Amino acid sequence: MLVNEARLMLSRTGAVAARQQLRSLTSGTQQNNQQAEAKSAPEPQIKTFQIYRWNPDNAGEKPYMQTYQVNLRECGPMVLDALIKIKNEMDPTLTFRRSCREGICGSCAMNIAGTNTLACISKIDTNTSKPLKVYPLPHMYVVRDLVPDMNHFYEQYRSIQPWLQRKNEASEKKGKAQYLQSVEDRSKLDGLYECILCACCSTSCPSYWWNAEKYLGPAVLMQAYRWIIDSRDESTHERLDKLKDPFSVYRCHTIMNCTRTCPKGLNPGRAIAEIKKLLSGMAKKPEPKLDTAALHK
Ligand code: SF4
Ligand code: SF4
Ligand code: FES
Repeated sequence: MLVNEARLMLSRTGAVAARQQLRSLTSGTQQNNQQAEAKSAPEPQIKTFQIYRWNPDNAGEKPYMQTYQVNLRECGPMVLDALIKIKNEMDPTLTFRRSCREGICGSCAMNIAGTNTLACISKIDTNTSKPLKVYPLPHMYVVRDLVPDMNHFYEQYRSIQPWLQRKNEASEKKGKAQYLQSVEDRSKLDGLYECILCACCSTSCPSYWWNAEKYLGPAVLMQAYRWIIDSRDESTHERLDKLKDPFSVYRCHTIMNCTRTCPKGLNPGRAIAEIKKLLSGMAKKPEPKLDTAALHK
C-alpha cells in the first residue's frame, strides 16, 4: 500500500489500523533512505603524508619524518589544504608558513615530492599507493619543521639595492611626476618583475647549495638584472661593477635547475646569462627610447 493511500484512509475513517499502517510505511521509507545514503557515501580515500619534523626546543632531538593519514574526500585539492587540515584536526604543532594561498606571497615554498614548489598551487597526487613526502626548502637552515631561515636570502636581496636609482634625484620632482618609459623598454621587465622571491630556484641550485655565502643565486641575480635592464635606472654601471667577482654571478654553471623549478614559470637562468653578457661586454644596455625625466624639467 502506498503512503498517500494510507493517509487517505486515515483521513476518511480515522481507523487505528490505517494509522499503524502509515507509521510502519513512513519508518520503512526512512530506513530505506538511510540505507541508500550509506550506500552512496563515497569510500574514504586515504593518502599518506610523510612530513619533515624538527623542533629546536626539544634539545637533542634529531629531525624525523612523521606520518599522517588524510582522507582526500574531506580535503581540498592542494598540498597546502592537506597541511592546514593536519594542523587543524590532527596535530597543531606542525609548523609551516603560508599567507595568500594563491601563489602570490611565496611563503609556502617547500620541497614536495622532490620538487621545490609552492604548497598552495601544488595538487596532491591522488594515487594513494604512494606516500607524499614534504620537506623544507633544501640546504637552508631550518627554524622549525617546514620553516626555513630566509635571513641570508633576504640579506642578499638587500645587497643588490632593489630600488630605482637616479643620478640627479635631488633636482627631479621625485614622487610628483612620472619617469617616462616606452612600451618597448617596459616590456624588458616582463618575466622579471613577476618574481615573488619564494627562493624555490635558489634552493634548487647546486652552486647555491655549496657557495651560498658568496654566490647570490638565481632569484637575487634575476632581481639584480631587473634593475640593471630598467631603462629608468641610472646605476647600471655600479650595479654591474658590484657583480664583477668570481663568486657573485660566475658560480652559475648554467645547470638550469632554477628555471625548471620556478613555480611562476620564470627563467632566472636566462637573466643570469644576460648579466654575463653585459659583464663580458658581449651586450650593452640600450639607451632609453624616451627622455625618462622629461616631466621633471
Ligand atoms: S642555471 Fe645557474 S643559477 Fe640556475 S640552477 Fe644552474 S647554476 Fe644555479
Ligand atoms: S624566480 Fe621563480 S622560483 Fe625564483 S624566487 Fe622568483 S618566483 Fe621563486
Ligand atoms: S601561500 Fe602564498 S604563495 Fe602559497
